Amino acid sequence: MNKDRIIGALLLLLIAVAMIFLTISGAFGKKEPMVEEIKEEQEDENLIVVGFSQVGSESIWRTTHTRSLQEALSKENGFFLQYSNARQKQENQIKAIRGFISQRVDYIVFSPATEDGWETVLTEAKDAGIPVILVDRKIAESESDLYTTWVGSDMTAEGLRAGQWLAYEQARRGRAEAELNIVVLKGTIDSTSERGRTAGFEQIAKKHDNWHILCSESGDFTTSKGKEVMAQLLKRYPDIDVVVSQNDEMTFGAMEAIREAGLATGIHGRITIISFDSVKEALELVEEGSINCDVECNPLQGELVAEVIRKLERGEKVEKEYFVEEKVFTRANVKDYLDERLY
Ligand code: AHR
Repeated sequence: MNKDRIIGALLLLLIAVAMIFLTISGAFGKKEPMVEEIKEEQEDENLIVVGFSQVGSESIWRTTHTRSLQEALSKENGFFLQYSNARQKQENQIKAIRGFISQRVDYIVFSPATEDGWETVLTEAKDAGIPVILVDRKIAESESDLYTTWVGSDMTAEGLRAGQWLAYEQARRGRAEAELNIVVLKGTIDSTSERGRTAGFEQIAKKHDNWHILCSESGDFTTSKGKEVMAQLLKRYPDIDVVVSQNDEMTFGAMEAIREAGLATGIHGRITIISFDSVKEALELVEEGSINCDVECNPLQGELVAEVIRKLERGEKVEKEYFVEEKVFTRANVKDYLDERLY
C-alpha cells in the first residue's frame, strides 16, 4: 500500500470514529423535555380545540384522570385535544397555558398544582376570551372570576369522611375515650386536595380531646416520599396508632416503612391506616385487611368536562362547580366494588 492510500484510509477511519462519537453523545446528551406535550396538527376545522394542562403523573389516580379526559375529549367525540404534562411544576403549567393562549384554543382545561399564583396567566386567558375550566383542583377563592367552571371532588368532604370513619370505628370497638396518636402524611402542600383533606379531618379531630395529631408532614403524593417520611416518623414517634395518608401512593410507601420497622397495619395490626383515592391496588389491601379505610377520590371526570364544554358551545349557562360521586371503602363493603374497579 502506498503512503497516499494509507493516509486516505486513516482519514476515512477518523471520520467514521467521529460520526459514531457524535451519534452516541447525541443520544446520551438528550435532555428530558421539561413539559411533555402531545401536539398534533388539527385536520378537522369543526373540532372543538381544548388545551389540557395536567399537573403530572405522580399517581395511578393521576394517570387514570388523564386517560379519562383524553378519552372524553377525543376526535370521535368532536374535540381536538392538546395535552401537556407539567411534571408537578407550576411554572410548566403557566408556560403551557401561555402556549394554549397563543394557539388560540377554544377552551383551556387545567388541574392547578397549587391554589395560588394564577392571577396573571388566567387574566391573560380572560383577556384573550378563552374560557378556563378547572378540573380536580381549584385556585384561590379570590380569583374565582378567572375561570368559568370547575369539575372535581369535594376534598374537604373527603377529609371529613376520614375523620367520621375513625370516630365511628373507635366507638364500634368500644374505644371512643381511648387516647389516639395520629400522624398525617399530607399531599402536595397548598394543593386543593392537601388543603381540603387536612381541613376536613382536622374539623373532626378537634371534636375529640383524646385524638392527638403528633405530626403532619408532606409526602408529596408519591410512594418514595411517603416511605421516607413514614420511616422518619416511626423513629421520632414510637407510639403511632393511626396513619392518615392523603393518597394511596404515599400509603403504599408508608406501609413498606412500617413493615420494615417490624410493625403490622390494619385490622390485625397495631397501626390503623386511612388512605385516600381508592385505586384497585389499595382496595385489594382493604379487602386483605391491611388498610382499614380508603376514602374515594373519583378520577373519572372526563365525561363531565366534555358535557360542560358542550353546554357552553350551545350557549347554555353552566354551574360554577360540578362534583363527582364518591364513596368510603372498608372491609365491610369493598368486595361489592372490587370487580368493577378498572384502575
Ligand atoms: O388532587 C387529587 C390528588 O392528586 C389525588 O389524591 C392524588 O393521588 C393525586 O396526585
